Amino acid sequence: MLINRPRGTNDILPGDVEKWQFVEETAREVCRRFNVKEIRTPIFEHTELFQRGVGDTTDIVQKEMYTFEDRGERSLTLRPEGTAAVTRAYTENKLYAQPAPQKLFYIGPMFRYERPQSGRYRQFHQFGVEVLGVNDPAVDAEVIALAMTFLHEIGLQDLSLEINSVGSPDSRTHYRDILREHLTPVKEQLCKDCQTRFDKNPMRILDCKVDTCKGLTQDAPYMLDHLVEADAEHFKALCEYLDSFGVEYKVNPRMVRGLDYYTQTAFEIIESGSTIGGGGRYNGLVEQVGGPESPGIGFAFGVERCLIALNTQQVTPDIPTGLDVFLVSLGEAAQKATSALLQEFRISGLVADKDYLGKSMKAQMKAADRQQARRVVILGDDELAQGVANVKDMATGEQSTVGIDELTSHLLSTLE
Ligand code: HAM
Repeated sequence: MLINRPRGTNDILPGDVEKWQFVEETAREVCRRFNVKEIRTPIFEHTELFQRGVGDTTDIVQKEMYTFEDRGERSLTLRPEGTAAVTRAYTENKLYAQPAPQKLFYIGPMFRYERPQSGRYRQFHQFGVEVLGVNDPAVDAEVIALAMTFLHEIGLQDLSLEINSVGSPDSRTHYRDILREHLTPVKEQLCKDCQTRFDKNPMRILDCKVDTCKGLTQDAPYMLDHLVEADAEHFKALCEYLDSFGVEYKVNPRMVRGLDYYTQTAFEIIESGSTIGGGGRYNGLVEQVGGPESPGIGFAFGVERCLIALNTQQVTPDIPTGLDVFLVSLGEAAQKATSALLQEFRISGLVADKDYLGKSMKAQMKAADRQQARRVVILGDDELAQGVANVKDMATGEQSTVGIDELTSHLLSTLE
């Protein structure tokens, strides 16, 4: 019996993988220009890292982690996101002792046990950026500008950038009381989860997907209207920087992100009603995972969601496909000679291939066409004896005879 891939995972096949590579290469290139360096952390971490980092009351920790015990009876978890892992690596490798800010990016798989649907998978991929060590709102704006530059460079338009401030712990303590006071009369009507959230983390109630809870929180006061002065100033400065960068945004005072570590700045980028990425500041997280006090800000995009958005917006990235050269051979001696020629082509930088199944000339030409070869080199036993080959330009149909010794340089100079 055939064994299928696990639910919520995807095979990324040739034909699609080129789009992935395009998105990933664009991410790397934009990061290079913003002087953001790559970091690679393990796919699994100690479970406690996410419990502490992402937060015990979050859906991720409560319901969505792939947690297992290894043979040494340690509890490990496939990473559900990258931020906690990057702050762990930042702390463990003492990157805080190096000049600030440390600007880091990652691209890789993440794992969440969610109900699979379009744009929601159990193994998905994120491109994320984390900037650690500086609490300047100019950095918040730069990180957001990087995110928007990436999206524009992969070809997306008409995106909605929403920003908010979820406050520092000072603002939150104060706001939690205001929120509890507002919700006390309707506490019993909230869903069970929200009744627990009421005591533990009432802000999470604002993010509840249950309709009754949504209705009951409709008129709740905004965090944004109850920020302590330093937070209000940070938010105001962020808006001014974004204005000066020419980055368009909408303030959404209802936005709460699904992870516990955010402080002050929070943002999301939405395309056709679906969130393709989000992030924010997390000034307490490094301490939370055992490091020194160290501010941070970052974001992550779902690569799958970026690709879905490209489809929706009918953007076809300009991805070079097809071969430079397809080698067609006729006769036994010619067939043998093609292997060495092919190697010579490939070493010189040409994308080259040939038929391996001993097909007829017509079938080989068809294969060349199917693989979008720009040139076909036809080599028969007679030509081989004369030291020449025929080169066909597949776009114009023109044919020329070229000496075998000059083939590579001829192809290189005509295939610019
Ligand atoms: P997040 O909002 O949980 O944030 O995830 C970021 C993005 O990952 C989402 O906007 C979405 O595009 C994608 N994503 C999340 N879950 C799934 C899924 N099950 N299937 C497909 N795509 C998914 C974070 O993960 C934070 N670490 C972002 C961050 C970085 N904040 C600060 N720095």
